[in-house]
Amino acid sequence: MQFDLFDSTSNQILEAKTYQAFKQALIASNCQKCPLSQGRQHIVIDRGNSQAATLLIGEAPGENEDKQGRAFVGRAGQLMDQMMLEAGIDTNQDTLIANIIKCRPPENRAPKQEEVDQCLPFLRKQIALLNPTVIGLLGATSLKHMISGKPQTGMAEAVGKPFTHPHFPQVQLIVLYHPAYILRDPRKKPLMAEHLKVLKQLIDEHSNQR
Ligand code: URA
Repeated sequence: MQFDLFDSTSNQILEAKTYQAFKQALIASNCQKCPLSQGRQHIVIDRGNSQAATLLIGEAPGENEDKQGRAFVGRAGQLMDQMMLEAGIDTNQDTLIANIIKCRPPENRAPKQEEVDQCLPFLRKQIALLNPTVIGLLGATSLKHMISGKPQTGMAEAVGKPFTHPHFPQVQLIVLYHPAYILRDPRKKPLMAEHLKVLKQLIDEHSNQR
């Protein structure tokens, strides 16, 4: 029988009592749970404020994120920061930003289901420790992996409308366009700006409910 040495490490990470302890344990683990570990420079856990009441969830780190070890620091992240700021949201102060998976897929392809299966327990732990009142799902991949049942609805129907889900009691959820999509199709920018106004309203209404 082969022993999976990572399992006890993994349990240790998932038993962390504070967000900082979780983060330190995950980085120190040098996680090898999926093949993406082979090509990565950093495990990208987040960016922003780990005390914030709002969590934004993207897809996966890209090249800049992998280099710097922080989420959404490339072109898409800069566009998101700028658009959020225009809506009155400072991403580094008012939100914590994470991704469905924590290591960069080659050529920035979408995460494979088996990679998501290995990585998602870590995001769930982040959610448990952060205890957010608002979660913004950035793009179709985030929607697909966070909310079972919703993908059939599709982005076009789901985007911009707040909803609740039994998996996240007490949390207001909202699906937003992924900023990389806006980079590819800037005509959607005004629509995203409208959705960010709704997000800001949710943040204002729910951020002190913890
Ligand atoms: N795109 C994502 O989904 N996440 C990042 O961190 C950067 C780009």
